Amino acid sequence: GLNIGPLLKTTGAVTYDPGFMNTANTKSAITYIDGNEGILRYRGYPIEQLAENSNFLEVSYLLIYGELPTPEQLAEFDATTRRHTLLHEDLKDFFSGFPRDAHPMPVLSSAVSALSTFYQDSLDPFDEEQVERSTWRLLAKLPTIAAYAYKKSIGQPMLYPDNNLDLAENFLRGCFGVPAEHYEVDPDVAKALDTLLILHADHEQNCSTSTVRLVGSAQANLFASVSAGINALFGPAHGGANEAVLKMLKEIQAEGISPEDFMNKVKNKEAGIRLMGFGHRVYKNYDPRARIVKGLADDLLVKLGGDDELFDIAQRLETVALEDDYFVERKLYPNVDFYTGLIYKAMGFPEKMFTVLFALGRLPGWIAQWREMMSDRTTKIGRPRQIYTGEALRDYPVK
Ligand code: ACO
Repeated sequence: GLNIGPLLKTTGAVTYDPGFMNTANTKSAITYIDGNEGILRYRGYPIEQLAENSNFLEVSYLLIYGELPTPEQLAEFDATTRRHTLLHEDLKDFFSGFPRDAHPMPVLSSAVSALSTFYQDSLDPFDEEQVERSTWRLLAKLPTIAAYAYKKSIGQPMLYPDNNLDLAENFLRGCFGVPAEHYEVDPDVAKALDTLLILHADHEQNCSTSTVRLVGSAQANLFASVSAGINALFGPAHGGANEAVLKMLKEIQAEGISPEDFMNKVKNKEAGIRLMGFGHRVYKNYDPRARIVKGLADDLLVKLGGDDELFDIAQRLETVALEDDYFVERKLYPNVDFYTGLIYKAMGFPEKMFTVLFALGRLPGWIAQWREMMSDRTTKIGRPRQIYTGEALRDYPVK
């Protein structure tokens, strides 16, 4: 019953592909995924090797510039990003305008959008130097913005960044340090956080990255484009899933139902319940990131004394799912979010911060994708077509 006749007549055939299940929107040399085999590579390097041997700053460089940096290049990149961690004092005023109980994600996207009012000297997407400056500023300032959003939400004063610390350490201090008191960064926690950031750093044309590209295709500046990406990531079907997983585990615990009974509800699609943290549009196999996250959870939850009961529920849900026909037939496996929430919780982050941590990780991917698109001067503005299903021509009733 679709009225596609008129469109076909005026434009030739169009592809109707809701959810872009089968539409490649771009060529890209950044990230490779084989969803059937469970493979993820950044610029050709397997995610497992990067998680094991690299660090988030180096991976950011790799994604953005295409090659691993030499030691000199990395040192310079490190020094430059550390130099840019401070926020303009006037930007801090924004934080006092938001309600105390605001979710930090819209605070983050608002502050990133506001950066374009403070840095009007770096908004030209085709000026290489300006793009470089906005790249450093974003990489350096997003963790500061995120830590400020957190401090604001708990009513504590914000801490100026300490540029002797690296990004993950500085962010932990910014969230959990208290002014005028020394904060000892736990190296194992900082390392685990750094690894989690690497695992989230890019994932080709996911919803938020496609959003960054679509907004950028109108030649919008990097701050505006990334701000839009943060808003897309806030959606529970995307970045909000790690928060949803923990809520689900807590509900199972509070209701005292067995993981097996909960899984029956999921299978019977009772009240549309889904097993959060399971399934993926692209991975029809174990998400390679989930495997690494599970290893981290094993180590860190023991050390930090994480919530054993919730971890146990999660593992039992996974065990049931991996053996159950419903999940096997639909190729539903744990995705990256299934265990991350438990780790973030053990680190001391409240649920509201989980998606913020995802955004910090995804930032270099958004920047790399935006820059790749901008450097191709043949890029066209993103403008999908539609199949019109409304009324045919009718006359306005003249009284
Ligand atoms: N629990 C139970 N059933 C599921 C789940 C799940 N988590 N995911 C998919 N299914 C079922 C669907 O009901 C459907 O079954 P049906 O054919 O009998 O109706 C089938 O599997 C296919 O599901 P779709 O929704 O068509 O798959 P799609 O590729 O559109 O969805 C998505 C992918 C959104 C990730 C989905 O698996 C989901 O909702 N998962 C839970 C939320 C989640 O964890 N999101 C994080 C995504 S990863 C990320 O952003 C990092």
